[in-house]
Amino acid sequence: MGMAVADLLASATYAAVRFYIFWETMLQKSLIDFSAVLPKAELHLHIEGSLEPELMVALAWRNKIEIPFKSVEDVRAAYDFSNLQDFLDIYYQGMGVLQAEEDYYDLTMAYLLRAHRDTVRHVEIFFDPQGHTDRGIPFNVVADGILGALDEAERALGISSKLIMSFLRHLSEEAAFDTLKEAEPYLDRIVGVGLDSSEVGHPPSKFERVFRAAREQGLKIVAHAGEEGPPDYVYEALDLLRIDRLDHGNRSLEDEALVARLAEEQMTLTVCPLSNLKLCVVDDMRAHPLKRMLDLGLRATVNSDDPSYFGGYMNANFAAVINALDLDKDDIRTLAKNSFLGSFLNPEDIAKHIATIDAT
Ligand code: ADE
Ligand code: ZN
Repeated sequence: MGMAVADLLASATYAAVRFYIFWETMLQKSLIDFSAVLPKAELHLHIEGSLEPELMVALAWRNKIEIPFKSVEDVRAAYDFSNLQDFLDIYYQGMGVLQAEEDYYDLTMAYLLRAHRDTVRHVEIFFDPQGHTDRGIPFNVVADGILGALDEAERALGISSKLIMSFLRHLSEEAAFDTLKEAEPYLDRIVGVGLDSSEVGHPPSKFERVFRAAREQGLKIVAHAGEEGPPDYVYEALDLLRIDRLDHGNRSLEDEALVARLAEEQMTLTVCPLSNLKLCVVDDMRAHPLKRMLDLGLRATVNSDDPSYFGGYMNANFAAVINALDLDKDDIRTLAKNSFLGSFLNPEDIAKHIATIDAT
């Protein structure tokens, strides 16, 4: 008799657990569907990091460039990173297939078409001019190709865009000054400057003067900080570079006073969940700080960083955090709104996008 009750209890518990899992899965699925149709802005996207293996191989043929891979599968198999530098080595090698203006156009158009499918309505994309000019590709070839695609996509897809030029921080400040000079004819088409590449050992302070010069020319300022680097680098980005937006910023959470300041200033953080997982900034998506950031009052956004290398575009990043974290519908809406609030669009356009989110 005792055995029968125990069996009954066990099977009732089993049924309850099964039902709970089913219910959770349904809720997550409906949140993922919701996030997939919300209007969004992407604020942290390196255009060179959207180079899919198929296009890499095609451009290698078109430009008669040797690459150390036999097939598209071979390229994908190489995307196994244990830190930022591991990735950067492959990323700089990959961009070597980009040579002609049409290559930059094709790369950018492929990304915009893909982002459009994820209901991304506005993009602010980075490019790394030094990754090209240092290989002998003229600045104008790179910029004209990217800008041509941005203009065409605005006409054909209705996706608006801005372009941000990043300085490679493993190079010197003098080299960044040369790049700023080279960009002069394009400054009416470039909204701001950023700082990327190998973070640790290359603090924002190394670039204080060149960012001051950029700011004096009316450019917006953003910087990668706190991806692998310590909270001190975030303080330097705020105080020395005087950033308008913080790229990544994960490690800010180690410093309570810094979190309070970022929340108080309503600083936008461009968070990149799948990137953080692939580059081992987090060990497990369930340990990702995105939900904590929102709960702390930080203006966090979701972005894909280098989607070809990290396994997903905008909506895949939303799906990954919805599956792993305890996000509710308000959180998803907040993330979408934050992406426009943190953009460099004018206030009227921001209000328009936010009204659409409220109506979704
Ligand atoms: N360049 C491209 N992606 C980057 C990242 N996640 N961090 C620093 N530099 C980068
Ligand atoms: Zn980045």
